[in-house]
Amino acid sequence: MSKLLTAVGLKKSFGDLNVIKGIDLSINEGEFIAITGPSGSGKSTLLHLLGGLEKPDSGSLHFRGKPYPSSSSDLDRFRNESLGFVFQFHHLMPEFTALENMCMPAWIAGMKDAEAKALSLAKDFGLADRLQHLPSELSGGEQQRVAVVRALMQSPDLLLADEPSGNLDQALSMSLFKLLDQARQRFGTSIIVVTHSKAWSDMADRCLRMEDGQWVKEITAS
Ligand SMILES: Nc1ncnc2c1ncn2[C@@H]1O[C@H](COP(=O)(O)OP(=O)(O)OP(=O)(O)O)[C@@H](O)[C@H]1O
Ligand SMILES: [Mg+2]
Repeated sequence: MSKLLTAVGLKKSFGDLNVIKGIDLSINEGEFIAITGPSGSGKSTLLHLLGGLEKPDSGSLHFRGKPYPSSSSDLDRFRNESLGFVFQFHHLMPEFTALENMCMPAWIAGMKDAEAKALSLAKDFGLADRLQHLPSELSGGEQQRVAVVRALMQSPDLLLADEPSGNLDQALSMSLFKLLDQARQRFGTSIIVVTHSKAWSDMADRCLRMEDGQWVKEITAS
């Protein structure tokens, strides 16, 4: 299977605090990886490094065999074209409707059929009748699903999602997992999720556990 992303020896400190202490990670095309670990262990920081949102202090990152771009404009372009993000705090824009939130990055990127794509994804994600509402008029789980749709709009090669099922009950959490799994089948999207859900960890291709900025052990599903 071909490699999508390879990270070697990633380290990141904030002042005196060593948060990421030497992380290696290799992801195949189309793979679904779950990352678990206690609060403060560095999971979100690792996603930010993998997503090119923050630079590691040392270590290397390659995407399809090429180093991550070093100039910020090339890095922006790479992120827009290849990556989708669902943040832990989903960052919806409060003054825009659900539909506008879904479409905004795609509009900025000049995607022509953004609304049609958003409508189709919104239907899959059970949001079809919430599209004209503002984020403040949506439940926590609906807001999270809007953020997931937004991240999938441009069919990214890699989706990085930070606790996307955090506000969902068990049934909705399972259905979100299935929708992400369908997205990976439809668009070939590789997926890395940070999750506290045992069910998600069990269903992923691989589950990695982080403690204190390092992997503890790899638990491979079935
Ligand atoms: N920008 C920053 N500046 C300083 N410290 C930071 C910064 N970002 C994260 N940290 C610290 O790094 C550590 C790891 O944070 P991180 O958000 O990666 O943890 P996490 O595993 O995602 O936790 P949680 O499960 O609570 O979301 C924490 O101690 C946090 O306070
Ligand atoms: Mg976090």
